[in-house]
Amino acid sequence: MYKEKLDLTRIPQHIAVIMDGNGRWAKERGMKRRDGHVAGTEALKNILKPVRDLGIKYLTVYAFSTENWNRPDEEVEALMALLYEKLDVNLFMENDVRFCVIGDVSRLPQHLQAVVNHCLETTANNTKGTLTVALSYSSKWELVEATKKIARRVQDGTLQVDDINESTIDESLNTSFLPDPDLLIRTGGEYRLSNFLLWQCAYTELYFCDTYWPDFDEEELCKAIWNYQQRERRFGKTSEQVIGTTEQ
Ligand code: FPP
Repeated sequence: MYKEKLDLTRIPQHIAVIMDGNGRWAKERGMKRRDGHVAGTEALKNILKPVRDLGIKYLTVYAFSTENWNRPDEEVEALMALLYEKLDVNLFMENDVRFCVIGDVSRLPQHLQAVVNHCLETTANNTKGTLTVALSYSSKWELVEATKKIARRVQDGTLQVDDINESTIDESLNTSFLPDPDLLIRTGGEYRLSNFLLWQCAYTELYFCDTYWPDFDEEELCKAIWNYQQRERRFGKTSEQVIGTTEQ
C-alpha cells in the first residue's frame, strides 16, 4: 500500500491531471467511448475524497480541450451531455470543495454554462480544497487571451511595456487564482502535455502511468505522490543549494 509509505509532511499542494485513456478503456471492454467517459467521471468523483483527506489543496483536471471540439459531433455531444448530467453541486458541497473552471466557457452549450455558474457560485466559500475543471481549455488559447489583456493595458496607458514581468503574465492567465502545480499526472500511457498548463508547469514534476483514467484510484494516486516524494525539486539550483550545504 503506497499510502502507508507517504511522507504526510510533503504532500503536493497542487496536483494537475490529464485524465487520458477513457476511450481505450471502453474499447477493450467492447463498450462505446461514451461509456469510457462515464467510467472516467466516476473515477474523478471517487478520487475527490482521498485528495481532500490527504490534504491536497488544489486538484486541476483536463476534462475537455480546445482541440476536443474537433472530435466527431456524436462524441462532443455525449461529453457535453455527460458534463451537464454529472456536474453535481451536492458532491462538491459534501466534500467542502470549491469548484472552479478554466477555459473558454462561452463555447459551452447555454444549459451547461448555467450549471457551471451555479456550481461556481454555490461552492465559492468552501474551504477544504479547490477542484478546477479545464473546459474548452488549451494553454495556447489561454496565453493568447492573456497577451490580449496585457496589450490592452499597454494601449490604454495603465501598463508600461518595461513593467511587464512574470507576475504580469501569471495575473493575466485563467489560472491567476491557483499556485503552479507541484505534480502533473498523465494516465493512459502517453508522454506529452497536450496543450495543458504549459506556462504553469515550468517546474512541475511530471508523472506518467499506463493505467487508463477509469482505473485510476486512491492507490494509484498514492503511488504517484510517493514517486514525486522520491524526487529532489531543484528549481534550477544545485543539489547542494537545495539541501543547504556549502559544498560546490
Ligand atoms: C481523455 O480520454 C478524456 C477526455 C477527453 C474526457 C475526460 C472527461 C471526464 C473524465 C469527465 C469529467 C467530468 C466532470 C463532471 C468534470 P480519451 O477519450 O482521449 O481516451 P483515449 O485516448 O483512450 O481515446
